[in-house]
Amino acid sequence: MADVIAQNPLTAGLSASLIPQPCTLVIFGGAGDLSARKLLPALYNLSLDGVLPANFAVVGFARNELDDSSFAAFARDGIQRFSRRPVADAHWAEYARSLFYAPGSFADPQAYAELKRRLEKIETEFGIPGNRVFYLSIPPSLIATCVDQLQAAGLVADPREGPISRIIVEKPVGRDLASARAINEVLARAFDESQIFRIDHYLGKETVQNLLVLRFANSVLEPLWNSKYIDHVQLTVAEEEGVGTRAGYYEEAGACRDMVQNHILQVLAMIAMEPPWSLAAENIRDGKLNLLRCLRPVAGADVDKQVVRAQYGPGYYHGEDVPGYRREDGVRRDSTTETYVALKVLIDNWRWAGVPFYIRTGKRLPKRASEAAIYFKPVPEILFNTNRDELLEPNVLTLRIQPDEGFSLRLSSKLPGPKVRIYPVKMDFHYGATFGDSSPEAYERLLLDVMAGDATLFMRRDAVEASWAWIGGVLDAWEASRTRYVPEYAAGTWGPIEADRLIESDGRRWRTL
Ligand code: BG6
Repeated sequence: MADVIAQNPLTAGLSASLIPQPCTLVIFGGAGDLSARKLLPALYNLSLDGVLPANFAVVGFARNELDDSSFAAFARDGIQRFSRRPVADAHWAEYARSLFYAPGSFADPQAYAELKRRLEKIETEFGIPGNRVFYLSIPPSLIATCVDQLQAAGLVADPREGPISRIIVEKPVGRDLASARAINEVLARAFDESQIFRIDHYLGKETVQNLLVLRFANSVLEPLWNSKYIDHVQLTVAEEEGVGTRAGYYEEAGACRDMVQNHILQVLAMIAMEPPWSLAAENIRDGKLNLLRCLRPVAGADVDKQVVRAQYGPGYYHGEDVPGYRREDGVRRDSTTETYVALKVLIDNWRWAGVPFYIRTGKRLPKRASEAAIYFKPVPEILFNTNRDELLEPNVLTLRIQPDEGFSLRLSSKLPGPKVRIYPVKMDFHYGATFGDSSPEAYERLLLDVMAGDATLFMRRDAVEASWAWIGGVLDAWEASRTRYVPEYAAGTWGPIEADRLIESDGRRWRTL
């Protein structure tokens, strides 16, 4: 195993101690979409890298009538379609022997008794000392049932003694502060907070993990990382895809709940948090929480001034006509669910006083691109910045989260020649060019972290609730407005004109991506 790690350029230099203890991962909703697209491919890639424990098993648990071999076929199909690396026949048999399936209804105590018997059998066969991770890839409405049943069946061990019991919960946790609290209460009835891993896959993306390294392992950046030198920050998470087959969920969520409450606020917290005094999980999580608590509330009449919501109308996607959101399968014809949101956020602390963070995210935008752009203040209008009609482009540090992961810094440079003419140039770093093409998928890192018990990249209860408390101001104002109309933007364009006005009224412009 250590050899495999050493041969892989991305894991070389790491020791075999990276490999977590033997355990079984039980996927609730194992025959579902997330399992096929993300979880089983992630586990397959971890297995290819040799970083899974030798004694490891996956058990899919769901209502679908599958057995072990049809579950393996389901996994293979998902891996073929979605894995970053293709199925290698030579390795497949080894991976497939760790796959099992237990059919059953989430509300049926018998199903849990059967699951327990199955787990004990697998554990004996594989030499796994009862360590279990439960992944809830299920709608939030089923969380309470599953947690209560797990506990009643004696499947949850005390964290202070005995084998490992951990639970992974998908975002969004709830749909507002009250429902998030209720879910957190349910989880807390059966599990200690140290056993609960609320997953936000953005935190597992390489470039997001790199934020702390970039900020605190480079002496040139941190001294400038504040309101004295930074003019504003733009955070964009753009998606090309429409709502696809997820209208049932999305109609109730919308872009604010689906993306801003979790992914975007977490990334914002990593960009803006104070330096933690150590890399211990709790210190980093404390840092993010403190930042979230400094967000200036946006509520009531401020919502219309600082937040724009919109919905995609008909338009084009890769040259094809595509329907507007309200014409998508499963969407109400009079839906007011937002598929786009732009916000101006202020952080009331000493570091960021007066520096706006402009956020935008949407579906059916012209391209898939997520990035944070840090705009530095202009140089004084002395020496080189003297022509008011042609002011110099400011320095911008762009952190590309996806798809072309990397970062770049825009600087002003002299154009060669006898006259002093200034031209913006870019220092550019691409992960692909430097480290090879295939960074691990977020779920690979995150699943490994849960098995290893490292909660750094997971959302703590208090942070989830702080995010809901803040975004609740926006959601409540929208609810109260009972609007029957949200502005439209044509599919395949960069959002509504109102979003341009939001930033332009401050004398700034959205970046062209
Ligand atoms: C999910 C959202 O959390 O993130 C989806 O529910 C969204 O609506 C997805 O499409 C985006 O993830 P990524 O990794 O493709 O940017």
